[in-house]
Amino acid sequence: MKLKGIALTAGILISLNLGIAAQQQPQTLSLMPYPAQVDQQQGGFRLAPDFTVATSGAADERLYGGATRFLRRLDGRTGLFFTQEHVTASSKQGQQGLLIKTSRPGEVKLDEDESYRLKVDNKGILLEAETDIGALRGLETLLQLVLADEQGYYIPAIEIQDSPRFPWRGLMIDVARHFQPMEVIKRNLDGMAAVKMNVLHLHLTDDQGFRVESKVYPQFHEKASEGEYFTQEQIKEIIRYADARGIRVVPEFDVPGHATSWVVAFPELASAPGPYTLENNSGVFDPTLDPTNEKTYEVLQGFFAEMAALFPDPYFHIGGDENEGKQWDANAKIQAFMKKNKLADNHELQTYFNNRIISFLEKKGKKVIGWDEILQPNLSKSSVIQSWRGAEGLAQAAKQGYTTILSNGYYIDLLHRASDHYLNDPLPAGNTLTAEERKRVLGGEAPIWSELVTPTTIDSRIWPRTAAIAERLWSPREVNDVEDMYRRLDYISFRLEELGLQHKRNQQVLLRNLSNGKPIEPLQTLVDVVEPMKGYTRNPGGNTYKTYSPYTLFADAATADAPAARRFNTLVEDYIQTKDGAARKEIIQWLEKWQENHALMEPLIVQSPVLKSIEGLSANLSNIAILGLQAMNSSKGTMAGKKAADHASDTKQAMEQLEKAREQGGRTELQIVDAIEKLVMQDSSSPVGG
Ligand code: ACM
Repeated sequence: MKLKGIALTAGILISLNLGIAAQQQPQTLSLMPYPAQVDQQQGGFRLAPDFTVATSGAADERLYGGATRFLRRLDGRTGLFFTQEHVTASSKQGQQGLLIKTSRPGEVKLDEDESYRLKVDNKGILLEAETDIGALRGLETLLQLVLADEQGYYIPAIEIQDSPRFPWRGLMIDVARHFQPMEVIKRNLDGMAAVKMNVLHLHLTDDQGFRVESKVYPQFHEKASEGEYFTQEQIKEIIRYADARGIRVVPEFDVPGHATSWVVAFPELASAPGPYTLENNSGVFDPTLDPTNEKTYEVLQGFFAEMAALFPDPYFHIGGDENEGKQWDANAKIQAFMKKNKLADNHELQTYFNNRIISFLEKKGKKVIGWDEILQPNLSKSSVIQSWRGAEGLAQAAKQGYTTILSNGYYIDLLHRASDHYLNDPLPAGNTLTAEERKRVLGGEAPIWSELVTPTTIDSRIWPRTAAIAERLWSPREVNDVEDMYRRLDYISFRLEELGLQHKRNQQVLLRNLSNGKPIEPLQTLVDVVEPMKGYTRNPGGNTYKTYSPYTLFADAATADAPAARRFNTLVEDYIQTKDGAARKEIIQWLEKWQENHALMEPLIVQSPVLKSIEGLSANLSNIAILGLQAMNSSKGTMAGKKAADHASDTKQAMEQLEKAREQGGRTELQIVDAIEKLVMQDSSSPVGG
């Protein structure tokens, strides 16, 4: 790998001489995923209305469509009114422009060549790729390269050689717990393409709903979806839309557990007598298909044959997770079957079930994927293991000869920070796998489970953090500077809005709803320093929130990376180490803003009782901001001379207030308590010691 001439670390600026105009303030590039090789040069290419895009070689409809979308996005940013309307076979290379050269049409399949080379100088732009899919990846890089100065927009002179580290870079969307309509899927496919992801995994069935139309067994979507499902025409449209962006679509039908929706439609396939109704809570439930009933295989084969034809990708996901086997244990007929067939436990029974399905699906040309529970002795070696319970599962699968993808550590529904996901590597440095075993690690997938996610909030639960995961799966392992990742993520995040993603704007929609139409600034100030409770703690027991509960609350507006807290925490770290005056000034500005905020929140809370649940949280923010200000002022010397005993009792009270500020409010938590505690502690140590 070569990382040449580019500042990967924030703050280092590249010396750029455009030769067109002197650059007063050269800008650091904000590429994500960061390419394998970057060589930035002097000069750049100016964009003008006569900018044209032309193709040569083996261009096809996918490339013409992608290049035309590129042109419109670029024009949308620059307002240059490009004269070119479409990119087609007859587009000629103009005086000023981009030439895209490809050797062959790509196929949207695993292991397709996605590499590209990009060369920009002051005469023009050359994008070369083996396939049109590689060219689409290069066009996204090109859009991230656009810079501006007083004279207009330009692309800096650069040479990039790029190809992915892993061939499987996925996003899993759970459309079962909360159905996600077409527009959500489409805008997220656009977001995926923007960060070079190439697999959309649709989790189509679960206890809460069956989300695809079946013509063979219409009772599935008719009885088990409450009317919210994709028609087969819509599935075809999703596949077309994804294909146009070089993205595969892998369907998941979760069996034999997570099966309430299956048995709502077909109670006779369950391992215990029904009737069944769709689940409204979150968690792991008992309804499980009966693997000893031939009718189960008859229905599964009929339905899977239909779905195998509907979804062209060779990979087919059968779930397999979290089957606790309670209904199996309690069913005498199933127990007798296990005894007769020498199946020692529920794992062996599930493997018996899996292998019957797998052999059927293999005849239909499919390779089967399952969550890591399916990895049991005797599982067919053709299966792919999706590791979610621990990274060891991934290594074990690879060592045992299975191909595998990593999801453990990429659970974006748990609302951990981008940095946590970013450093989670499918093949970390120092891993003990052999070269052959490493090749079996295909990549990873970020799952957005939708128990607490609606079409309004899903984008903010996926983006921008998924861009950091996309980089982990595309870029060289050595691209791992967290601070620089966040710098680039901020840029990518706002650019994703160009594709209709609503992760930023819907926060304001939610805050306006909460403020009852009043100005939202105080709420914004508060939401910027909190994060929703992480992991499964927001919804204890899985039944505080039902599928039909409101997801329009303060916690839904909060994001996993509280932006003001991130800034403040960095400042405090800097200040404690350096006592830097500018850091001190900004810390005080933040603290003053927070100190005043509760007084601004109070009238809002009076008018919007829905905000009652964050009244304490809001008061805590202002209270600890006061502590922070006292600490800042006292370390400047205003408290010097105060008696040590008084000071100790102040510190004890401060610690109690800080402890209180760690309590959740409205299912969110303040993220600046530790930093303020550090300010208080360093203050408490100085006068006492002096
Ligand atoms: C899973 O999270 N149950 C795969």
